[in-house]
Amino acid sequence: MLPSPETASLLRAAELASRSAYAPYSRLHVGAAVRSASGAVYAGCNVENAAFPLGACAEANAIGAAVLAEGAGLRIAEVAISAREAEGRAVTIPPCGGCRQRIGEFGPHATVHFATEDGGVRTTTLNALLPESFQLQP
Ligand code: THU
Repeated sequence: MLPSPETASLLRAAELASRSAYAPYSRLHVGAAVRSASGAVYAGCNVENAAFPLGACAEANAIGAAVLAEGAGLRIAEVAISAREAEGRAVTIPPCGGCRQRIGEFGPHATVHFATEDGGVRTTTLNALLPESFQLQP
């Protein structure tokens, strides 16, 4: 099934963000875009570091931009992820475990789309990707 125009534009924002990735070590260029409940879209790319564990995922940076704009009330409705190798070949990137937990903090019922290497899109939910997730009651 073809993605809706809204989802297609979120995927395009993720793909555009992946072009800004700083990934000289893995050579995997990842972009993420989140749509908040307000309808606004925030994008991020992965930023690696010579001290490898300091690298940040695209989703984490997109969520950081969203929190900066909307604060603690941020509610994530939808997330899109798009990734390419440095040489340009598309790669399927389901969000890593840590980013599933990050998305869940603001979007426990978010829809998650990730572009696939064959040019398609896989659509799922945060609930399906991270069942019985850890929650800390404030
Ligand atoms: N990466 C992301 O940006 N998001 C994910 O969900 C998985 C992995 C990045 C981190 C690192 O810069 C590169 O992909 C290889 O792990």
